[in-house]
Amino acid sequence: MPVHVVADTVTGLADLRAMLEPRYAVTSELLSDTNTRCGESDAVVVTADLRAVDNIAALRETFGNLGHVRKRIFIIDQKARLFTVQAYALGATRVLVNPVNQAGLLAALVDSNPARTISTESLPCVRKAATAGATALASMFSAVLSGKAIDVSSAKVAGNQIADSIAEDGLSSWLETVRRHHESTYQHCLLVTGIAVDFGLSLGVPKADVERLYSAAMFHDIGKAKIPLAVLDKPGRLDAQERSLIETHPAAGYDVLKGNAGISPEILDAVRHHHEYLDGSGYPDALCAESISDIVRILTISDIFAALIEHRHYKPTMPREQAYEILRSMEEKLEKPLVAAFRDVALSR
Ligand SMILES: [Fe+2]
Ligand SMILES: [Fe+2]
Repeated sequence: MPVHVVADTVTGLADLRAMLEPRYAVTSELLSDTNTRCGESDAVVVTADLRAVDNIAALRETFGNLGHVRKRIFIIDQKARLFTVQAYALGATRVLVNPVNQAGLLAALVDSNPARTISTESLPCVRKAATAGATALASMFSAVLSGKAIDVSSAKVAGNQIADSIAEDGLSSWLETVRRHHESTYQHCLLVTGIAVDFGLSLGVPKADVERLYSAAMFHDIGKAKIPLAVLDKPGRLDAQERSLIETHPAAGYDVLKGNAGISPEILDAVRHHHEYLDGSGYPDALCAESISDIVRILTISDIFAALIEHRHYKPTMPREQAYEILRSMEEKLEKPLVAAFRDVALSR
């Protein structure tokens, strides 16, 4: 696999070449070079200071030329949330934080699940929709972090693109593409969006409700922008304090979106209440069945299923059958007929 390296300093370039050359055919360029010479590379590795405005502008230009490269790994200097978000907004499919050693970099370049059988390269519509979705999510998270206005319309346009992709290529292609190319919260939000759309389509809901579903799903976890990455991406169990911090995200999402003219009351309701359960055991408002809308019930089932089947490097991906059994076991919490109707989406679509 040819790998292309981009760095903002000569030293950065040399360090990356030294780590990669024993294993890969490497081409490289300084970020200040005007011509991108990436050729037929399967992967690009970027190291640059994302605090520098010039670097960001140059990377935007470079990635206009590198969008076809399957793996785009960014190495950043600090695990600051804003830089991670910035890297994803620039097109990263994976972000590593310095100090990065050779073993870590090589591991990131190895496909985490080579046995997957669906060729996403033959499905450009799916890839484009996933990239549009991830970019919209990254800029929303970035806006929340920097206190700027949230671009609601880009998220809705991306949601619509995702809905078209699901209608055209089906849910399985979507799940494979997103799990292969996107990570963490963005992967999760993209999975929820695709699953909620497919669930809506399988139920035969009107077009306006499909639109409500993809919008609600795109925005549902925006409050996670306020949660530290160390908690959000922690491998393994959360302690009580971390759990209660995570549980602030629906109300935090509600707070950042309320008053935004592009967000309808139903979407706002879904953002605040997607962790409520019919038996009143959910959060933040411990709502009971009659107070939970249909859109929220559909979103909650999609959200739980997506969380179960997410791909994380530190644990095996749960098979869809097992995830569906877990949904079925949540009898008092989720609407039984809806879970039954979800069977097709979960197992065969
Ligand atoms: Fe959530
Ligand atoms: Fe979620």
